[in-house]
Amino acid sequence: MFGFERVVKGTAFTSQSINEIDILENYLFCLNKDGMIEKLVSPKEEIYSAIIETYQGTSKFQEIPKGEYLLPGFIDLHVHAPQWPQSGLALDKPLYDWLNTYTFPLEAKYKDTNFAEKVYSHLVDELLSLGTTTVLYFGTIHKEANLKLAEICAKKGQRGLVGKVVMDDHEANPKFYRDETTEQALADTEEFIKDVKILGKNVKQGVYPVVTPRFIPSCTDEGLKGLGELAEKYDVHVQSHCSESDWAHQFVIDRFGESDTKSLNKFGLLNDKSVMAHCGFLSAEDAEIFRETGTAVAHCPISNAYFGNAVTRVKQLLHDYQVDVGLGTDISGGFSPSLYDNMKQAVMSSRMLNDGVNHEIESDERGVSNSNITLKEAFYLATAGGGKSLSLPIGELKEGFTWDVQVVSTHHLPVFGEDTLEETFQKLIYIMKPEQIKEVWVQDQLVYKQ
Ligand code: GUN
Ligand code: FE
Repeated sequence: MFGFERVVKGTAFTSQSINEIDILENYLFCLNKDGMIEKLVSPKEEIYSAIIETYQGTSKFQEIPKGEYLLPGFIDLHVHAPQWPQSGLALDKPLYDWLNTYTFPLEAKYKDTNFAEKVYSHLVDELLSLGTTTVLYFGTIHKEANLKLAEICAKKGQRGLVGKVVMDDHEANPKFYRDETTEQALADTEEFIKDVKILGKNVKQGVYPVVTPRFIPSCTDEGLKGLGELAEKYDVHVQSHCSESDWAHQFVIDRFGESDTKSLNKFGLLNDKSVMAHCGFLSAEDAEIFRETGTAVAHCPISNAYFGNAVTRVKQLLHDYQVDVGLGTDISGGFSPSLYDNMKQAVMSSRMLNDGVNHEIESDERGVSNSNITLKEAFYLATAGGGKSLSLPIGELKEGFTWDVQVVSTHHLPVFGEDTLEETFQKLIYIMKPEQIKEVWVQDQLVYKQ
């Protein structure tokens, strides 16, 4: 009678705006064959009981058990897949030394596609088990290993956006880890884009190629220009690092006489599908360029505590400049693969930015006022903000969005008396344990079950 592919009954939390959540209590989520939410039905609506009568007791009906809730699948806007083996390690040096001492030697190993397959399978499983359903990945310079990552995402049901990293400047990069020539880097990128587009055609949740200059310091002018042209030619996503750390930010000013943002924009690398990691040093003018071009910021609060040398002004970017902002783990600059951990760090870092940290300075001069974000804003970053950043219909449990969800249990929470649903939401996010994530679905495909 209704023609839905499946109907799920349960209570969900989803962002209504940047700082508000919607609590959809005992709703019916009516899904279509494409794995999208076709209709949301509240218990107050007349057809509610008719739909239940039609579907209950059939294989097309799922009722979320009491004490369990639905959250949107999380969107991680910044993961270096090849760095997974060193997560939690090697965080004792500043960015430049960390890259050269630990990270480039590790990434060079992905010339071996078997090694890539082992690491990437493990990582995708781990991220899915943590409720992360969409990931914007940096791969390495190696076309085959990157393709392997896209194939693994396709097979395991994760929505992966994968970039072949370009590092074509021979002076800036070590001999053992760099593109052979600029022409080769661009040709490999183009071939990779074509291969992933073909692969993505038969993948329900989609996999996407991403134009990926590592960051300006590792690329030549010709390389950056060529990548901007490829991004336009194929209408694909773009990612890079932007104004991360004193060193990286200053390097670009010394080379071009202007900021990362302005330089990337001149090379045609900022558009509605661009996501730039970190952005701790954006000026007001840079932020305007982000808004005008539709470029998004991947905020990586754990990583920034180690390498950022500053706290990204998330609150100002969201509210004063209306820039799209999402969240990134930045594996392995950030040690945790969990966006739950990163949501909490985003709140905590913003509070320290707001108040300041040096007690020898007067309190009204110590911090950057109006910088603290709430838990709901952090949740927005991990969900709806990530979806807007990628310009995909994901991260919200609304009609026309994909059925990417986590089913999470509250049985471990300290409840003595009765919590409101609003309180349940807060406790859920703050004291979530990975083992409380019971099921994960991507585009209505079950990709993880405990
Ligand atoms: N800048 C250039 N490469 C990297 C990287 O791998 N991680 C981080 N955090 N910053 C970078
Ligand atoms: Fe990074």
